[in-house]
Amino acid sequence: MRRVGSDVAQAVRLLCEGKVVAVPTETVYGLGADASNAHAVAKVFALKGRPADHPLIVHISDLNELSRWARDIPGAALTLARRFWPGPLTIILRRHPSVLDVVTGRQDTVGIRVPSHPLTLQLLAEFKGGVAAPSANRFGRVSPTRAQHVQAEFGDAVDYILDGGPCGVGVESTIVDFSGSAPRILRPGVITASDIASVIGEGVLDAVRVSEAPAPRAPGTLVSHYAPNAIVRLLPPDAIIKELFVEMGRGRKVGVMAKTVALHDLAARMSDAATVAWRWVQMCEEPEGYARELYATLRELDASDCDVILVEMPTVASQEWEAVRDRLARASAGAPSEEGDLGT
Ligand code: TXA
Ligand code: MG
Repeated sequence: MRRVGSDVAQAVRLLCEGKVVAVPTETVYGLGADASNAHAVAKVFALKGRPADHPLIVHISDLNELSRWARDIPGAALTLARRFWPGPLTIILRRHPSVLDVVTGRQDTVGIRVPSHPLTLQLLAEFKGGVAAPSANRFGRVSPTRAQHVQAEFGDAVDYILDGGPCGVGVESTIVDFSGSAPRILRPGVITASDIASVIGEGVLDAVRVSEAPAPRAPGTLVSHYAPNAIVRLLPPDAIIKELFVEMGRGRKVGVMAKTVALHDLAARMSDAATVAWRWVQMCEEPEGYARELYATLRELDASDCDVILVEMPTVASQEWEAVRDRLARASAGAPSEEGDLGT
């Protein structure tokens, strides 16, 4: 049996048998299991190496399925789901009594989303159930945005990888928690706070800033999440070239993720010997394009054995950059403090 392909019927069959299937979404690939099969969901936790009290998102085929998974659904949550589903939005609601503890990490809430990817929407419609799926990476590592990333991460340990091509969004969904007194963003994504406020009304969204929101059992909120093996350093544009030379002087293999700084800024100062020591990636200057390539670039630089990745920090203050800034800050959180100019 082929382990990677675009055979939706096979993916559905395997899910029904309690197997683990990696599924494409518009954000990142998920490691999916039948959300109503505790044994299958436990396999996902074991594969990821994820602590049992960290809840999974349940993926459903459309809004009409929501009442099977949640209760006391606030009107604003429905309005938001109607506007953004299928799409990169997860909503946290009070859970329906039938939802398994293993999915919710024993919390009284459940995270739900309708992903926007044709293969996975077809899979969910044919499966006729919920698919519990965290991002298909080992706990704390960079999320996968290509089928090959999942394969590199898990090899044959995953029963099937449904290959839906590269993910169009590239960073995980925006999570809005509706289980408290006011809706609150737990994780920024491409759907921004102002997108949300424009749908449910200004002032409705809890004023707590995303980075301050306490969410102890939300894995995406751990400071050092999304980390590659290399040290990631976030730097302002004018420090990139100087630090590249400093790191190379230390004998390190350096990768650069530049945004506004260009390779020709450097050309005059490079010697041939040095060119083998580093990789230069020119990232997109727009937030959508940057987000789409972010994880693939971190993985690629890691795979080319970079010791250090110098990232030109996007300095634009707009909300459109918030998801990228958030993931970069987490990727760099493991950097030794004497070196982390911006720190987090
Ligand atoms: O875009 C995405 O959301 C991707 C794709 C595969 O859908 N999934 C994803 O799953 O990023 P994961 O497990 O890597 O991150 C799930 C996040 C957790 O970090 C947590 O913050 C939140 O979902 N979550 C899930 N259930 C929750 C709950 N009941 N209460 C609070 N947060 C919850
Ligand atoms: Mg994740």
